[in-house]
Amino acid sequence: MTQAEATTIFEEDILNGLKARNKFLSSKYFYDARGDELFQQIMHLDEYYLTRKELEIFNTHKDAILHAIDDGEAFRIIELGAGDGLKTTVLLKYFLEKGVEFTYTPVDISGNVLEILEQNLQAEMPGLRIESYVGDYFDALAEISESPEKDIVFFLGSTIGNFSQGEAEGFLTKLQNFLKPGDLLFMGVDLKKDPAIILNAYNDSQGVTREFNINLLDRINAELGADFDREEFQHYPYYNPHTGECRSYLISTSEQDVVVGGENIHFRAWEAIFMEISKKYDEVQLAELADKSGFSSIDAFHDTERWFADLLWVKK
Ligand code: AVI
Repeated sequence: MTQAEATTIFEEDILNGLKARNKFLSSKYFYDARGDELFQQIMHLDEYYLTRKELEIFNTHKDAILHAIDDGEAFRIIELGAGDGLKTTVLLKYFLEKGVEFTYTPVDISGNVLEILEQNLQAEMPGLRIESYVGDYFDALAEISESPEKDIVFFLGSTIGNFSQGEAEGFLTKLQNFLKPGDLLFMGVDLKKDPAIILNAYNDSQGVTREFNINLLDRINAELGADFDREEFQHYPYYNPHTGECRSYLISTSEQDVVVGGENIHFRAWEAIFMEISKKYDEVQLAELADKSGFSSIDAFHDTERWFADLLWVKK
């Protein structure tokens, strides 16, 4: 896709969301260069426990994880949305130390991210076999999935939580269609817990998460010539303990008009834009999700407080 095509799709998506009866913007657009930077900051916040907990799981259970996935044959790890690979490195290093034969295939939409990741991994683990793939997850899977060796898809960091229930089922069903029977999915999910802890993770005291959301308005201003006034919007996350959905909104604190891509968008005072879903699961919801998307659960690894889990599912 050319840059011009990407901008056209971005504009269509943004206008479609802002012209809807209940306004929404897609959180997949959070991640421009500034958004990546802000997400890095979020992952280091005390209140944002998710990254810390998943790292704890890898450090504590790396041996059990290896035993659960390794059947003595060579395998391939395909990591969707590899990012900086910080957490995965713990597992990759351990597997190498144990003399396991595997290839690591990180997939990411950003070629830049993958280049840095590859350099870092190669410096740290010269023996690691890396075959990275730049592009969309499913384009990557379409191209690489026909391999004889067992594939283990890593989908970490609770990225699945950024999908609604229906989207998650659709995504995992599609993923499962690219796999061979016996292939595995290793997926990080955030679990239901004290709602105050969850809410704080998305309403941090330093306002980084607010900035992360508002940054999308800045991005729309910069890329689509819009005139959002960031001071006229309030960040409002809320958690529903029944569904497990933590939803973030930006709320217009006044009646105002914003011009986006040459179109006038009217905001009533206190009208909301739905920005992001970060879903937390319980065991019943996870069992249902596995079943509906064609997987069976074979193992689950937790941190000591059972706030987060990395699940091992097999394609049925
Ligand atoms: C990337 N994703 C799993 C993060 C989450 O927790 O939903 C994104 C995020 N949004 C606000 N803080 C972090």
